[in-house]
Amino acid sequence: MTPATSSVSQPPLNTELPCTKEERRVELYNGNDVPTDPRFVNENTDLGTLNLNWREVDLPQKERTKHVHGLHPYLGKFIPQMVEVFLRKYFRAGQTVFDPFAGSGTTLIQSSELGIHSVGCDISAFNVLLANSKAKTYVMEEVEKDVYDILAKTRAISEPSLFESGSKTDPGEDTGNAYLQSWYAPQALRELLLYRNLIPNYRNQDILKIILSRSARSARLTTHFDLDFPKKPQTEPYYCCKHGRICTPVTTAFKFLQRYSRDTIKRIKQFSHCREDVDLRVIHGDSRFVNPGKIDGVITSPPYVGLIDYHEQHRYAYELLGLKDRSSDEIGPAFKGSSKAAKREYRQLISEVFINSLKYMPSGAPLIVIAGDRHSLYPTIAKTCNLEEVFVIKRHVNRRTGRRSGEFFESVFIWRK
Ligand SMILES: C[S@@+](CC[C@H](N)C(=O)[O-])C[C@H]1O[C@@H](n2cnc3c(N)ncnc32)[C@H](O)[C@@H]1O
Repeated sequence: MTPATSSVSQPPLNTELPCTKEERRVELYNGNDVPTDPRFVNENTDLGTLNLNWREVDLPQKERTKHVHGLHPYLGKFIPQMVEVFLRKYFRAGQTVFDPFAGSGTTLIQSSELGIHSVGCDISAFNVLLANSKAKTYVMEEVEKDVYDILAKTRAISEPSLFESGSKTDPGEDTGNAYLQSWYAPQALRELLLYRNLIPNYRNQDILKIILSRSARSARLTTHFDLDFPKKPQTEPYYCCKHGRICTPVTTAFKFLQRYSRDTIKRIKQFSHCREDVDLRVIHGDSRFVNPGKIDGVITSPPYVGLIDYHEQHRYAYELLGLKDRSSDEIGPAFKGSSKAAKREYRQLISEVFINSLKYMPSGAPLIVIAGDRHSLYPTIAKTCNLEEVFVIKRHVNRRTGRRSGEFFESVFIWRK
């Protein structure tokens, strides 16, 4: 089924949410071309009137990565406003939504803004750490104290002169970790390891681990234009196509620790003003077998076949924090490719996840899946799971930067148990 193109009943989306610029509303209001404003969606909204083809001008990056959504880069995230549309349409405050592929926690964070309880599950320990860090309720004074104290201590003991005089506390000397030794300049690694070793002394350890990971991502010996999946360490100056000049690989990490400390505090504070008091849980596990408890429906974006290695994209965090690697349980990783056999296995495993999720939801409850289904695998998956199709919306995705540039379509499958 394809969406009908009947007239749009809600005001258009503004660049800033919430926003009252009437001129902008008028400019964007153009019949069916008006992108949906999530704030005006409710249970009575006709699915056929939804226009999810937001462009940068409709939904700027600042809004897509608002508050804790921008706590750490994550390739493969769906945009919070799209989740919001379906939460408003299908869920009520006090109900529980499940995301079996929780990733960076977008569904869970958006749900909490609307007073909806949520449970997430993910196979990647780093993603669970990230989602949990976003989800926690913090005592802000404590967080600020921890964040600035560890920063000050790291600065005090990471001065190169200390190590030149033969200090025994230099952690950069004996990591024994080939990945860390090859991807960081000596001073950057020293600073990261000092910070990491201090973390156990603090209460808000998860948030410190996220600041450390984000800094470690930026401090790698890599080019500015290939931060997602750099192939080999960049140790010499290089021509940077992002900045149009010769750039030099970074040698220290402290400036990132400093920058992301401030940014993290700002984002947590922003989120604390719009979250409701809800139950929010992230489980580290394989969604084929997890028990999320009683749920009222699912909203999720599964990994797609042969597209992304979800553990690998945060490899620096696994190496630094010693996180458990469960990449062999990842569904559809890039390293397995998209051969016929890979697609067959993918269909089977995704079906197992949905069949497991369906056990915990009432008959008639929604299962909403957002996927760039270029191999048309999802209609078969729906059949295997005995799901009733309610609607399918095609969405035009307009990407902007780096290796993520290029346009494509993704589908929103709305099914019912
Ligand atoms: C497309 S991403 C989800 C992104 C998420 N919607 C967000 O906005 O951050 C898919 C996620 O599925 C996870 N995943 C892959 N196989 C899994 C499995 N067997 N069980 C649970 N999660 C799995 C990956 O680790 C990845 O985080």
